[in-house]
Amino acid sequence: MEYLNYSAIVIGSGLAGLYSAIKIEQNLQSGKVLLITKADLGESNSRYAQGGIVAVLKDNTEDSVASHITDTLNAGAGLSDFNVVKYISEYSDEVIKDLISLGVNFDRDENDNLIFTLEGAHSVKRILHCNGDATGRGIEKRLSSLVAQNENITKLQNTIAVELITEDETCKGVVIFDGANYKAVLSPVVILATGGLGQIYKNTTNPKCATGDGLALAYNAGAIMQDMEFVQFHPTALAVEGENKNFLISEAVRGEGAKLADRNGNYYMSQYHELEDLAPRDIVTRANYEQMAKSGEDCVFLDATLIDSDKLKKRFPNISQICLKNDIDISKDYIPVHPAAHYFMGGVKSNVDGRTSIKGLFAIGETASTGLHGANRLASNSLLECAVTAYSLAKYVKDNYISSTIQLTENIEKSLKKYSQELGFIEYDTDALKAELQDIMWNGVGIIRSEESLKTANTQLHNLKTKFLRNSKCLNISEYEFKNMLTVAQLIVNAAINRKESRGAHYRTDYPYTKDIAEHNCIIKQQGELSFVR
Ligand code: FAD
Ligand code: SIN
Repeated sequence: MEYLNYSAIVIGSGLAGLYSAIKIEQNLQSGKVLLITKADLGESNSRYAQGGIVAVLKDNTEDSVASHITDTLNAGAGLSDFNVVKYISEYSDEVIKDLISLGVNFDRDENDNLIFTLEGAHSVKRILHCNGDATGRGIEKRLSSLVAQNENITKLQNTIAVELITEDETCKGVVIFDGANYKAVLSPVVILATGGLGQIYKNTTNPKCATGDGLALAYNAGAIMQDMEFVQFHPTALAVEGENKNFLISEAVRGEGAKLADRNGNYYMSQYHELEDLAPRDIVTRANYEQMAKSGEDCVFLDATLIDSDKLKKRFPNISQICLKNDIDISKDYIPVHPAAHYFMGGVKSNVDGRTSIKGLFAIGETASTGLHGANRLASNSLLECAVTAYSLAKYVKDNYISSTIQLTENIEKSLKKYSQELGFIEYDTDALKAELQDIMWNGVGIIRSEESLKTANTQLHNLKTKFLRNSKCLNISEYEFKNMLTVAQLIVNAAINRKESRGAHYRTDYPYTKDIAEHNCIIKQQGELSFVR
């Protein structure tokens, strides 16, 4: 096994990973940052973000931190942590301005003023976007190019982090695998910026890399995991087959005036919420689910013809083009849409600067659960959380870690011996295993849950696990992903069984009411077993 040593290791190259690598490197006096990513640089959920990023700017007289806090807390269904919401909202101005200074181009009008848009459950226009509906691509492209040019950031692409190295209750590094060779990288600062887990569901807006790896790694290392039952389902993924299946139709389309309708053109959202089509996401998703159950169809429809056709094409060039490729002219036709797994509110319990329950281990972005989103994320708050937590983490590292290094010990060497051992020759059909897991999660742990559906899913996951006999070392990257997907799926099912109420995105038919007091649901691995902790 080859050993490497770095000042900081960033795992993942979405917004959280790219931005934290840039900011940490800016503060380094010596040493280097290592950035490891599973696919190519920038391939991530971040790349596909559409609607935009929340920007509570001090010079926007229409908006205020207080208003953003109120909207975030309302969407979060009682489970958001006030101090975290306040911190992230207050830092929005500084961080957005920093991103602009790094060369991220948010859309501007003819007078060079930033354009703000509206999305569900926001009381004012406060969302910035790039290239109309390709915000993620705009941000990721700029940050990826900065990282690519930076010689103090070593980049390892197509490389997966497979295990965190811990000793004396401290994280000291990570084992990485490029499909052929293993390396152990030691560092006092190990950052999980590994994104979400949409791929554990049959229908998802997330790309292939979103398999929950960082969550499984953190859990296996003994980190506290928070609110694992809260998966956000987006109400409007494109309901077509083929390459564009589940392509996201941004909430910003409803923000600009589109409305959900049944096949006969009846707009139904007024039956569900006073904010109608701009109600919080969990409410719109359940409304779509109910309408689909009523009609027996596998989709509902989005009527974007209500928006001026020139504006529509200019504001949503990407969505217009993808729909057209599927014979849908959004200025004339209804868009068939259905809910799909989109975002994970739960995760590794972390502070706003990424600190977790394990010293030396940090989690930022979608992998983290800071308490910002509570039980339901407000649209466009995720990119903001990625940016603010990455920025705060870099400051924390500067003040606390800058000159420390990690020594290789006999214990560490011993614990990594397994990676030099030969595996048996069984090669698992991971595509089939992943598909089975995705069906189990979609059917039993999806938009609507009950004790019965959850317990059935739990048994099915146990049975699936018995078909896959790998405890630690795997044969290839896809096997590692499946192992992680199984771990994370089991955490979600158990957390969902344990939360005996309905709140935000977690809806149970057997416990349809929300308890008066909102409590976090925390899990930790103790003696190899899953335990709930306060
Ligand atoms: P990601 O961007 O997902 O990056 C994770 C990275 O980690 C990837 O590079 C991945 O390859 C890598 N990785 C994972 N596991 C490993 C491993 N084991 N080893 C090495 N590397 C690993 N949010 C908003 O706020 N506004 C929006 O408009 C918006 N639109 C969205 C549209 C779509 C279609 C989707 C899917 C999400 C959208 N979201 C939006 C959510 C938002 O994009 C994500 O929550 C956010 O980008 C997450 O960023 P991240 O850096 O935490 O993770
Ligand atoms: C969207 O554009 O609808 C996604 C926005 C988000 O997930 O925040």
